[in-house]
Amino acid sequence: MSLEVVYTIEDLRFRIARKRAAGATIGLVPTMGALHSGHLSLMERARDENDSVIVSIFVNPAQFNQEEDYNRYPRSLETDVELCETVGVAIVFAPSAAEMYPEEAYTSVEVSTITEGLCGAFRPGHFTGVATVVMKLLQIVQPDRVYFGEKDAQQLAMIERLVRDLNVPVKVVAVPTVRDEDGVALSSRNQLLSKPDRAKAPVVYRALRAAVAVAASGVTDVEAMKAAAAAVLAREPSVRVEYLEVVDPATMQPVEKVDQPVRIAIAAWLGGIRLIDNLLATPRR
Ligand code: PAJ
Repeated sequence: MSLEVVYTIEDLRFRIARKRAAGATIGLVPTMGALHSGHLSLMERARDENDSVIVSIFVNPAQFNQEEDYNRYPRSLETDVELCETVGVAIVFAPSAAEMYPEEAYTSVEVSTITEGLCGAFRPGHFTGVATVVMKLLQIVQPDRVYFGEKDAQQLAMIERLVRDLNVPVKVVAVPTVRDEDGVALSSRNQLLSKPDRAKAPVVYRALRAAVAVAASGVTDVEAMKAAAAAVLAREPSVRVEYLEVVDPATMQPVEKVDQPVRIAIAAWLGGIRLIDNLLATPRR
């Protein structure tokens, strides 16, 4: 069956009902478009685990805390649809902002604790915007499974908690981060980097690896992990570090000792572009 592009909630619900009536299971992959191999790996996983895959492409204004960032966010619906077709996606849902937010919303979804540190400390309102739009998409599609990337680890932890706290009948599937050959995590924002800044971007991954190596060597002191990462980052003085944290992967709260698997997370600015990345570090037993 060939791919269908759907722009309205009503049309989408009609098509999903038809699939459900035929007994199909449904996997949802929420995205903001400008699709790359990271997104494709979510879609492939969804295709392998469900009868039908629905990809939403919606640059969600509610999760941008800077209008400039929203305006310059890359948009490429036509090539995105072609990519979805190559992976065997059944439906691309590409609503307008007016379709998703026809009137001022009085309701929003807010997840506490998990969203307070890391990106949440620097992007006020961002995670409420994400949680609300994801909840809306889950209500509209009612999928069996929904797919998120580990690249956005705080977002993933938040959605896992939201689904548990509110008993949303969906299985959240976490998909490993896809990287370029030089280690840089694929991101729609990478295409906004200047050539010299793109050449510097691998320093973030190298810093994460240095911290993971410290934990793997048996050191349990988080400060030693952070120092190793900071030393690598210092080699590129034009890269401005926003945060460098070691956290519990489920609660996203800072930890002091590596006595369980931890996530080391970095946000850094290259030129005017903000990149985030993280790795899981496991203590040596
Ligand atoms: P977006 O940045 O388009 O990402 C969509 C999904 O792709 C997210 O789950 C993200 O973690 C995953 N992803 C991005 N880069 C990846 C990579 N290199 N490897 C693996 N997965 C990757 O995240 C959002 O959109 C939005 O916040 C959204 C959830 C759609 C809500 O608006």
